[in-house]
Amino acid sequence: GEVIVEPLIRTTISDDRGEEPRYAGYAASELCAKGYGIEDVVALLWGKKLPTREESEIIKRIIMISADHGPAVSGAFGTIIGACAGIDMPQAVSAGMTMIGPRFGGAVTNAGKYFKMGVKEYPNDIPGFLAWMKKNVGPVPGIGHRVKSLRNPDQRVKYLVSYVKNETSLHTPILNYALEVEKITTAKKDNLILNVDGTMGCILMDLGFPEHSLNGFFVLARTIGMIGHWIDQNNQNSRLIRLYDYLINYAVKPERPVPDKK
Ligand code: ACO
Ligand code: LMR
Repeated sequence: GEVIVEPLIRTTISDDRGEEPRYAGYAASELCAKGYGIEDVVALLWGKKLPTREESEIIKRIIMISADHGPAVSGAFGTIIGACAGIDMPQAVSAGMTMIGPRFGGAVTNAGKYFKMGVKEYPNDIPGFLAWMKKNVGPVPGIGHRVKSLRNPDQRVKYLVSYVKNETSLHTPILNYALEVEKITTAKKDNLILNVDGTMGCILMDLGFPEHSLNGFFVLARTIGMIGHWIDQNNQNSRLIRLYDYLINYAVKPERPVPDKK
């Protein structure tokens, strides 16, 4: 008789059973032939929608602007340490990837989520929003930077905000809200700016991307930078990294004899 097997997985984004992959139904080669770009593929595979030309231009800029931020940041540094230890590209890049989390690069999703919540629950009450965040979440995702501040603004953020607001017709209630939050937080401490994660999160939420897709934009973009750092260290044949003693505060017990075991 007929054997009915339960499918093991269910997919809703792509299909390779024809002659070529289809992303949300569209043949990859046809997308290429019709002038679509990688940002459109991202939107199809992550959001299942073909963006408008204006939306793709925003997505493209988000990816471009967050692709790298030099060797000093947690992700690039992790990859560089791996590269210098002779680790292959995928593993060294994944060492850098491991750093993406609530403090570094992985605050995009929660920034989008909580600023959206603010718009809904505390529309005209930013102190109320901040009090709720302090009590229930902790540091506001998308706010704060180690080196950027009002006196040393993050040009990536300035550019993205200005581009979206002045050169597109995107409706930006979530970004607007975050910019109001920034006014209050920077009055407390001048490095509590809307950071790149926060800016991306708000714009992507305003674009209608699924909430849990948002960190993916930082992961995707920063992979470009991390691969670059791995190639760079390999091109230079860099040596193994070992921290110099002066970079470590050895707050340890003084040398002492081991007592006899009782
Ligand atoms: N919301 C509220 N208060 C904050 C925030 C925040 N997001 N960030 C820092 N503070 C406060 C701290 O409570 C602390 O206050 P205190 O002096 O009264 O104790 C003060 O600012 C300094 O905090 P630190 O943790 O020392 O600041 P640091 O410079 O080390 O942290 C960081 C920078 C990790 C980015 C921090 O601001 C943060 O956690 N932000 C939220 C997460 C986030 O958005 N990360 C993405 C950064 S951008 C990127 O990685 C690409
Ligand atoms: C980044 O893009 O990596 C950052 O904004 C983090 C940093 O400390 O510069």
